[in-house]
Amino acid sequence: MEHIVDLHQLTSRAAREFVRCYGRPPHWIAAAPGRVNLIGEHTDYNDGVVLPMATDRYVVLAADRAVSSSIESTHTRLFSTALGQQCSFSLDSLDGPKKPHWSNYVQGVVAAFASKGSKPPSFDALIDSTVPLGGGLSSSAALEVATATLLEAMTGRILPPMDKIHLCQKVERDFVGVPCGIMDQFSSVMGRPDHLMLLDCRLAEAQWIALRDPGVTVLVINSNVKHELAGGEYAKRRHECETAADALGIASLRDGDMEALDNAQDRLEPALYRRARHVISEIQRTTATAKAIRSGNWLDVGQMMYASHQSLRDDYEVSCRELDLLVDLARQLGRDAGVIGSRLTGAGFGGCTVSLVRTDAVLSISQTIETRYHHETGITPNLFTTRPARGAHLVSP
Ligand code: GLA
Repeated sequence: MEHIVDLHQLTSRAAREFVRCYGRPPHWIAAAPGRVNLIGEHTDYNDGVVLPMATDRYVVLAADRAVSSSIESTHTRLFSTALGQQCSFSLDSLDGPKKPHWSNYVQGVVAAFASKGSKPPSFDALIDSTVPLGGGLSSSAALEVATATLLEAMTGRILPPMDKIHLCQKVERDFVGVPCGIMDQFSSVMGRPDHLMLLDCRLAEAQWIALRDPGVTVLVINSNVKHELAGGEYAKRRHECETAADALGIASLRDGDMEALDNAQDRLEPALYRRARHVISEIQRTTATAKAIRSGNWLDVGQMMYASHQSLRDDYEVSCRELDLLVDLARQLGRDAGVIGSRLTGAGFGGCTVSLVRTDAVLSISQTIETRYHHETGITPNLFTTRPARGAHLVSP
């Protein structure tokens, strides 16, 4: 099990590193959480529902105005502690992404604020994080949202939450090149302690579902594999869903139902039929899971999680051998050993699984899965428990 670095420890660490890097203390520290999605995968860009939570793992950005005020344009120096790399950029030279780079997320948000008429001053910043990078827990959305939170403080322009969410989502789409839905940025901005959010992505409205049963714990397992397919396949799935919706004569798969889909099966390519079947059934499972959690029906919750994984594996084809193995290992342990349910979380093709487990069995479950996964794959996974946590906010340095 991973040692927990809480937000307070993380911000102290970032402040210390900022001093080491720039020779003075930071003036602001902005924090934004990663997310884990309990169920409702690949439904957000189909106007569907999702059931994520913000995690107690954060990306923090410690910052101060640049010492030199002679530069006309916004000039930013950035240091990433996770990568041990420094870079700098000027607002003048930002015209969209050139090649994939970790600073694109920050650059995109700076450019978006400037285009709204709120040009930030030149600043120095340091990024630190307890969200694993590229592990499907929204490290990128957390960095965008932390940057937006920092720029709100710097410019005095506080955005309405939905504007902030859309601004960050647009950065991910236009500046980073991933045509994502709204789930990650929404979770990072809006997260509430002890609550999942049943987010209706068409209405952009959430119902809050309490997750505070001390007997139930959220266990995240990072497979520590990332298959390169991720970017291109994500866009491809999105396109397939739009094509399937067109063929069904509906605005989005949110408006579909199983009966109409089955009636249209002859007119759909088999792959499109299966993509649509995943989305339509996943939306139903997500609503049903929220209901089951509200009534404490953990048996149903677990079954829904396994069914979701199976659908992502067979119909949506975004799983991989390592994620299937982690879910199988959890399932084999089963209810007697304290496992409630398990599935891949995030876009897929590697990254993490999310499992619900009985709190008193967390250690034994973790040890068994870690050992067996390593035995089968030669890879050491990272395991940690997490709790629904507060969304983005400023922290005193
Ligand atoms: C990524 C995207 C989200 C969502 C998930 C899949 O995390 O950023 O918008 O589509 O994949 O559910």
